[in-house]
Amino acid sequence: MKIENNYNLSKLNTFGISVNAKFFVEIQSEEDLQELFKMEEFFAKDRSASGGKNNQKLFLGGGSNVLFIRDFNGLVILNKLKGITILNEDSETVTVRCMGGEIWHDLVNFTVERGLWGIENLSLIPGTVGAAPMQNIGAYGAELQNVLLNVEAFDISTQENKKKRIFFKEECHFGYRDSIFKNELKNKYFITAISLKLSKTPKPNISYKILTEYLDKNKIEVKNSKDVSDAVAFIRRTKLPDPTIIPNAGSFFKNVFLKGEVGEVKMKELLKIYPEMPYFKEENGSKTSVLIKIPAAWLIEQCGWKGKRVGNVGVHDKQALVLVNYGGATGEEILVLANTIIKEVREKFNLELSPEVNMI
Ligand code: EPU
Repeated sequence: MKIENNYNLSKLNTFGISVNAKFFVEIQSEEDLQELFKMEEFFAKDRSASGGKNNQKLFLGGGSNVLFIRDFNGLVILNKLKGITILNEDSETVTVRCMGGEIWHDLVNFTVERGLWGIENLSLIPGTVGAAPMQNIGAYGAELQNVLLNVEAFDISTQENKKKRIFFKEECHFGYRDSIFKNELKNKYFITAISLKLSKTPKPNISYKILTEYLDKNKIEVKNSKDVSDAVAFIRRTKLPDPTIIPNAGSFFKNVFLKGEVGEVKMKELLKIYPEMPYFKEENGSKTSVLIKIPAAWLIEQCGWKGKRVGNVGVHDKQALVLVNYGGATGEEILVLANTIIKEVREKFNLELSPEVNMI
């Protein structure tokens, strides 16, 4: 394990932003992690020498959900823990354990090749397995929390207590693109592995409108999970820009949710002015009140931003939720664009967009 200084991160974030990390390290094994814990004193000294100003630690997986605004004045830890294993199996289900440094889509392939059902709708989501629980990744009507059993993570928040902890699903406080790891436990745990419970018996989840339409139009009869995975991958490739060609971080904003009775009243008011505004009613976790989802992409499109370019940055022409770097952009330029969009959506609709991407 080698600690690098002033390490350039442009290849480690899908926005391709060129910033440096003061310290950088790759974790290939749990032993590396233990070795890093022993160096805690060194990093603590560096922090106190900076008057506590230096950022402490940042964990990076695929770098597909971050926007670097400036150099990172601390330690970047890259998760390179590898390995996918079948833990156990009964007549109906298979439990798969996957290390955090694996590429998410490689895990999807591992499962669909074995005929397992559960994460096929999450095909081609960029990033690593360790980052998946952070934001409870979701797409085409499925979410990680539907199949997740547990998350294994090291507590790195205190000097003495570098213990491994297992978080069962309920302890992860999953929500829409949200979890305990983005909130109370932000930067406190290093996710080493996750386990999923997948189904051997067919469980197609193909009611998401775009997916149903694609399958019908192409007369695809879903026989196994790979059929769904291939369909999702095809749809994604036509709508979302490939970050290796046009750097981006997927959806930059979250969809907008209106909650409860107040939300229903607000939705009615909006529909009076914008009768064509799309919205989707969902039950929330506790099933006590209604949640109304308004696609942020529609709001952005209505403000005239879809396909628009400003200097080195812009809004993708096929999916208005995606901000792109046309080359050489700084994080600041993306941030200015994002803030302009937020302001215009607020002024036009009185709705607040919030970023899905973590800004560092
Ligand atoms: N829409 C527009 N303009 C657009 C795109 C979409 O008006 O440019 C409207 C349409 O009304 C459409 C609706 O938005 O029916 C929903 O669009 P879509 O199904 O493409 O999904 P989304 O809500 O825009 C979410 C995720 C994506 C995920 C897709 C598919 C978020 C923030 N984004 O987008 O996730 O792939 O659903 O399930 O929830 C990502 O997180 O990086 C990501 C790409």
